[in-house]
Amino acid sequence: MMSKPKSALQQARAAYQPKLPKALKSGRATLQAGEVVKPAAHAETIAQLFPNSSNMPLMTIVEGDKPVGGAPLTVGVVLSGGPAPGGHNAIAGLFDALKAANPASRLFGFLGGPKGVFTGKYKELTAEVIDEYRNTGGFDMIGSGRDKIETAEQIAGCEKTLTELGAQALVVVGGDDSNTNAAILAENFMARKVPIQVIGLPKTIDGDMRNQFIEASFGFDTAAKTYSNLVANVCRDAASARKYYHFIKLMGRSASHVALEVALQAQPNYTIISEEVERRNLSLGQIVDDICDMICRRAENGRNYGVVVVPEGLLQFVPEFKPFFVDLNKLVHERKAELDALPDKAKHKFVAEHLPGHSGELYRSLPETLQEVLLITDSHGNLTVSQLETEKFLILTVSARLEELAAAGKYKGKFSALPHFFGYEGRCAMPTNFDADYCYTLGYAAALLIAGGVSGYTVSARNLAAPVEDWILGGVPVASMLTIETRKGKEVPVIEKALVDPDDAPFQAFAAARESWKVEDAYVFAGPVQYFGPSEICDAPTKTLELESKAKRFG
Ligand code: FBP
Repeated sequence: MMSKPKSALQQARAAYQPKLPKALKSGRATLQAGEVVKPAAHAETIAQLFPNSSNMPLMTIVEGDKPVGGAPLTVGVVLSGGPAPGGHNAIAGLFDALKAANPASRLFGFLGGPKGVFTGKYKELTAEVIDEYRNTGGFDMIGSGRDKIETAEQIAGCEKTLTELGAQALVVVGGDDSNTNAAILAENFMARKVPIQVIGLPKTIDGDMRNQFIEASFGFDTAAKTYSNLVANVCRDAASARKYYHFIKLMGRSASHVALEVALQAQPNYTIISEEVERRNLSLGQIVDDICDMICRRAENGRNYGVVVVPEGLLQFVPEFKPFFVDLNKLVHERKAELDALPDKAKHKFVAEHLPGHSGELYRSLPETLQEVLLITDSHGNLTVSQLETEKFLILTVSARLEELAAAGKYKGKFSALPHFFGYEGRCAMPTNFDADYCYTLGYAAALLIAGGVSGYTVSARNLAAPVEDWILGGVPVASMLTIETRKGKEVPVIEKALVDPDDAPFQAFAAARESWKVEDAYVFAGPVQYFGPSEICDAPTKTLELESKAKRFG
């Protein structure tokens, strides 16, 4: 294979050897079964839906007394959903662990996401392939996709492909939806005694696939640090040019973890946290009034500039939008056939006419660009919030309110605003040392769970604010993380998204400091991600992890 051109940093980075926790590095790792864990809610329903993979114990990887070894294994790996920095290292860790246990083991990568598994599109991942991608960002080694593995045909397709390959296991790298799919597949195989194990890995830059057993989803660290640098740069530009308000939307489909981390790192003037909006039942009008209050106060100090950070998923948390989303979802699914038959322009008209009462009024009051995007959902039924121009919508609304205030003599400043959206800029960044180590470790741990014979587990990782050698790896039964939610009008098992908890330490630290950021320019410049140099610059975990660990959130 011809190797691709590489920058000096890429070449230096290719040689980086990710660090491993003590138990994994020992070469004698083994699984230790712990307590049986159950879902926090709907335990009985989930036990009925997953009779074979519920009520399983937590697994911890500990140092044993025998070297890891055994018969050669054939394993498949699939990347699912949006890219997240470190995915290639997860594959490299899996590969290295399989080869360390038995050099005759083989790894196959499924192409283009889950569809590659059920349609049988794959390639063998040899050392030559893997070495090209060590410590690189992106998912381009094998690609990704948002297909689900759910229907009987899809499951049968997966079984056929994996059986023909002679695979003993499939590793699914994905977020909440993909790990849910892994649970469904594992349960199906266990029920029919198909000898193929399924193991999940927690991935998403959104940072919302986490719980007491999984302290962070991979990719969050790199993405949040990349955006923090970009936002801080915009803050400095704002303070230099002194003429613009920048409204920056940040990725994170539902949860505001990314926005909160960026706020803690860069200290922009104003950051909206969706979960606080929900908790305090803040209407859009109240949010806009609060932003305008800051703009007026800054104008009194001669500051007609500033930076406002907006989480991607905001509208879903605003109280007046919630019944609207329920009505919209219902209409789109109940009248799907009629809607599908209409051209795009007519779709809006149809929705505007058929949404009941307040929801119809709200829809008709929105800018056309928002109306269009609201009608698009992905295969999991999620809104395509990355395309929803919430930042522009807020600029329009804030601007209108400022005009009213100016007319009433309560505002004398100038308001010139620019919209930004940082999302795709960070999802494929070269992984930080944290993500390079974390992903490699997750992949390595997946191989050990496979060697230990378990199925229906997601790799768990704890103590992540500590040095890598003290991280605690293991497996948590996927079924134990499930709850029941309504998706596309149906009650289905899903892994609950872990949203920002306003009672937790990261939000509390933000809330305690934010008042002064509004009036002062307290911008902090973390700078671009560093890979070489002092450990406090290169290896620091996110502020979120650091604060949670100090507050002992994970026990
Ligand atoms: P995952 O949940 O699959 O990791 O994806 C996260 C995300 O980056 C969201 O932050 C964003 O809303 C969405 O993907 C964008 O999706 P797409 O890649 O389909 O535009």
